[in-house]
Amino acid sequence: MRPNLLERLFFMCDLYPVLRPLLFCFDAERAHHLAVLGLRYGPSLGGRRVVDPALQTTVAGLAFQNPIGMAAGFDKNAEVIGPVLKLGFGFTEVGTVTPKPQAGNPQPRMFRLVEQQAVINRMGFNNKGLEGYTARLKKRPRTLGIVGANIGKNKDTADAISDYEIGLRAVAEFADYVTINVSSPNTPGLRALQEKSDLSNLLTRLQAVRKDCAKQPPLFLKIAPDLDETMRQGIAEVALETGIDALIISNTTISRPLPESTPHGAETGGLSGRPVFALSTAVLADMYKRTHGKVPLIGVGGVFNGADAYAKIRAGASLVQVYSAMVYEGPCLANRINAELLTLLKQDGFTSVADAVGADHRI
Ligand SMILES: Cc1cc2nc3c(=O)[nH]c(=O)nc-3n(C[C@H](O)[C@H](O)[C@H](O)COP(=O)(O)O)c2cc1C
Repeated sequence: MRPNLLERLFFMCDLYPVLRPLLFCFDAERAHHLAVLGLRYGPSLGGRRVVDPALQTTVAGLAFQNPIGMAAGFDKNAEVIGPVLKLGFGFTEVGTVTPKPQAGNPQPRMFRLVEQQAVINRMGFNNKGLEGYTARLKKRPRTLGIVGANIGKNKDTADAISDYEIGLRAVAEFADYVTINVSSPNTPGLRALQEKSDLSNLLTRLQAVRKDCAKQPPLFLKIAPDLDETMRQGIAEVALETGIDALIISNTTISRPLPESTPHGAETGGLSGRPVFALSTAVLADMYKRTHGKVPLIGVGGVFNGADAYAKIRAGASLVQVYSAMVYEGPCLANRINAELLTLLKQDGFTSVADAVGADHRI
């Protein structure tokens, strides 16, 4: 498909630095809605897709054109799957979706920390529910890239596991993989599901549900960066015992590795973006060691460029996801990261992403 004039112009100049001050006139959530609307109805502005055999990789039996994905939370309702993939991403993870629609927390609930290139959010799984989500997932384009469905629980559901079972049954047929999200800090009690016995129970039940599904997608588990050693060891053991297909590391942090005076720094919620890079990468490297490199890992948190993505890969990530950097860097991000990553891989003599996974542990 040939890019039209507007698309070519945008890519050549990467106009986002010009557009960004306009978008930043709106509060963060409204700007996000505008971005989603722009993707849905506007031209594709991501520029020329970076394609190279060295970027292609297979994880959990799925063939990814490149290792850079859009993280969950950007496309909560599975409304812009095609447009996001056309920005050059190898995959996109849509959701978190809950069985019933829910409004989430009162606004304002998303804040830009501009100097820190960070975001704090306490959205609380605002989403339109499984019904429409599943219908859109079913109609998605099949050839543009891999699509994961991220499932969660409604705030008012007492039996959390039943919500995950409902979610998995609904999306299994239409998603390439399914992520079990037990790590959002904005749903009361959710993160307790990361505790060893609860997690083991949850994953065992979900694997039983998957067995009964006509199509059986790989199951990924998304964890928080705020876990003590006991919790991390418990997750590693459960991951190995249950044979979970991948771990996504990590969600946002409730910690605040920020200067004290940071505007919005004291808002309640999960912090993402640059300040979470070091913490999430340290947890990633630790989980790679605890799982002996046997469980594929997906690195998320503070990735802004090729060097950040490469650092996650060397720390143990087979794939990398981004969200906050989209706010600050705009639609050319995925192609830029892939181009830079390619150069870095070649510089160090790696012929593929897979060759570089966990390289830091072999020094
Ligand atoms: C506004 C916002 C909403 C998010 N919503 C979700 C969500 O619904 N489900 C989820 O698993 N992660 C969610 N995340 C977390 C991201 O997927 C990602 O794990 C985290 O932001 C760290 O990556 P980043 O530093 O590249 O943003 C959200 C993040 C942000 C900033």
